[in-house]
Order: sequence, then C-alpha cells, then structure tokens
Amino acid sequence: MSDVAAQFGKVAVLMGGMSAEREISLLSGEAVLTALVNQGIDAHGIDVDENIVKRLTAEKYQSVFNILHGRGGEDGTIQGLLEVMNLPYTGSGVMASSLAMDKLKTKQIWSAAGLPTPDYRVISNEQECHQAVTELGLPLIIKPVLEGSSIGMSKIEREEEMAEAWQKANDCKGTVIAEQWIQGKEYTAAILDDQVLPLIKLETSHKFYDYDAKYKSDSTKYICPCELPEADEIQFSEMAKQAFDAVNASGWGRVDFMIDGDGQIWLIEVNTVPGMTSHSLVPMAAKQAGISFEQLVVKILSTAACEHC
Ligand SMILES: Nc1ncnc2c1ncn2[C@@H]1O[C@H](COP(=O)(O)OP(=O)(O)O)[C@@H](O)[C@H]1O
Ligand SMILES: [Mg+2]
Repeated sequence: MSDVAAQFGKVAVLMGGMSAEREISLLSGEAVLTALVNQGIDAHGIDVDENIVKRLTAEKYQSVFNILHGRGGEDGTIQGLLEVMNLPYTGSGVMASSLAMDKLKTKQIWSAAGLPTPDYRVISNEQECHQAVTELGLPLIIKPVLEGSSIGMSKIEREEEMAEAWQKANDCKGTVIAEQWIQGKEYTAAILDDQVLPLIKLETSHKFYDYDAKYKSDSTKYICPCELPEADEIQFSEMAKQAFDAVNASGWGRVDFMIDGDGQIWLIEVNTVPGMTSHSLVPMAAKQAGISFEQLVVKILSTAACEHC
C-alpha cells in the first residue's frame, strides 16, 4: 500500500440507504469505491441499514466516505452518529447537513445574510396555494423542502395546475413551498475544500431540470466551461461560496443557482452530498479544473473530519 493510501487506513464508503435517492447513491457509491480501491486504498462499500453501528464497530473503520444522498444520509442524522462514534467523515457536519437538506431553512438563512434567493410562501393547504399565486404571481415552482433529485416538484403556469402540484409535493414528507419561478439560465458551482471549481451551465428541453432530465434524458446539456464572461464567472462563484459558507457547509458540495434575464443571480439550494457517478456534475467541474475522478475522490477523502473527535 502506498503512503497516501496507508494514511487513510480502513475506509467505509456509505451508500444506498433508505431515501428516495437510494438508487443514485448506489451508483455514486460504486464509482467512489472503485476509484478508491484502484488507488490502493483499503475501502469497503456498505449499503446502509439499521445494522450500520454494528458493522462500523465490528469492521474497525478509521474513516468514512459518505455518499448517501437525501434523507438519513445528507441531513445530519448519519453525521451525528459518526460524531458519536468518533469516526471522521467526508462532507458537512451535523448542523450544515441538516440546514442544507431543508430548502426553506436554507432560504431563510440566505435572506438573513442578504443573499438573493427567489421569494416564496410556505403552503400548508390548497387555499394557501391560491394565496401564493395572488401574492407572487405565476409561474411558480412547488417544492417539498426536504426532497432532492426534483422529487415531488412541479412548475405551475396556470392556477388550475395548482391542486395536482400541491398534492404531489404534499405526498412527500415535510413542509411545502411555492417559489417564484426564475426565467433564465441554470448553473451549478461545485465546491471542493475551499475552492470553487469551474461553473457548469445546464440546459434541458424539459420544463425544468426534473428527475428524468437529471438521470434519464440524453438531451440534457452540460456546458463547462460555462460560457460566462470571466468577471461574471468569478462574481457568481464568489456568491456561490458565500451561500455555501452561510449554512456552514464544508469539505465539498454543490450550490445550484439561476441567472435571470437581467443578469441577476438567484440562489436555489446547496447539496452537501452531490452525485458522484462518472456522469455527475462535481466530477465534470473537477475535470475542467484538471482534477481526475480518482484525484477528486482522494481529495474529498482527505477532507474527512469529525467536529467533536
Ligand atoms: N425558482 C426556480 N425557478 C426556476 N426553476 C427552478 C427554481 N427552483 C428550482 N428550479 C428548477 O428545479 C430544479 C430542481 O430544484 P432544486 O431546488 O435544485 O431541487 P433538487 O434538490 O431536487 O435538485 C432545478 O435544478 C431547476 O431546474
Ligand atoms: Mg438541485
């Protein structure tokens, strides 16, 4: 084993789990595991279930590469468990994970910090949906605040579409918001340690970057370098980093944002455990920065930390 590989000791790659994003996490996890093993690191995949504590204890791991997406893995719960077990893990700590998982709390923090995010209303019944249309106008995007991968989301352009959109979002656990629709271009900023990687522009023929556009469609376009003038790319990258820091996120992650027709930035969300398949966005941005997938996983692993150990 090389010195670099030895320094990490025995590594658990946590993947799968029980969230709606389980299948994506398994794909990300396999890609990460293969890359770590190819570099001589003593890494082992664990599909997380209720036996996780027993396994982590019995198999004597020294650190954790967490690639669980969504609830139970990206929301502070597994991070809390790893803190209690004194196991350093990749990505954000307990509070940041938990805040970033909640799109509403994230927006509230950004607003308090003076960072631009689209206006919204919390909606708890169909009546409040109509109230949101009156106050914010159309189009709106209806979102469950605790989901990822565009699950439970709909764009509504006419008030008649409200009932179905509300129902779909409300079928997911947690609060639902109606957010002002930003007409413009969509970008994402991958963050690795303290560095913002080159921005990626996303183009989809769907109404928005929905589940199929993310994982199934061949027509979704990812443009990196993102074709913005250099000064704009620097400015938006700085804003994305401020948005990441505002929720106390650390290690690595991704900030999604939009730019409207006036060139104004609107922050959408922070992902603290973004996808890591060979087709995912963080690896794409890393490649543009001259960082291979294998270098990227090692770099992420080297940021593994435990806030209280
Ligand atoms: N306010 C908005 N205006 C226009 N499009 C939006 C807005 N919010 C989200 N979207 C679209 O919906 C997609 C998913 O929304 P996002 O909040 O990033 O949730 P997820 O966690 O599911 O990725 C975005 O990638 C974007 O295409
Ligand atoms: Mg997103």
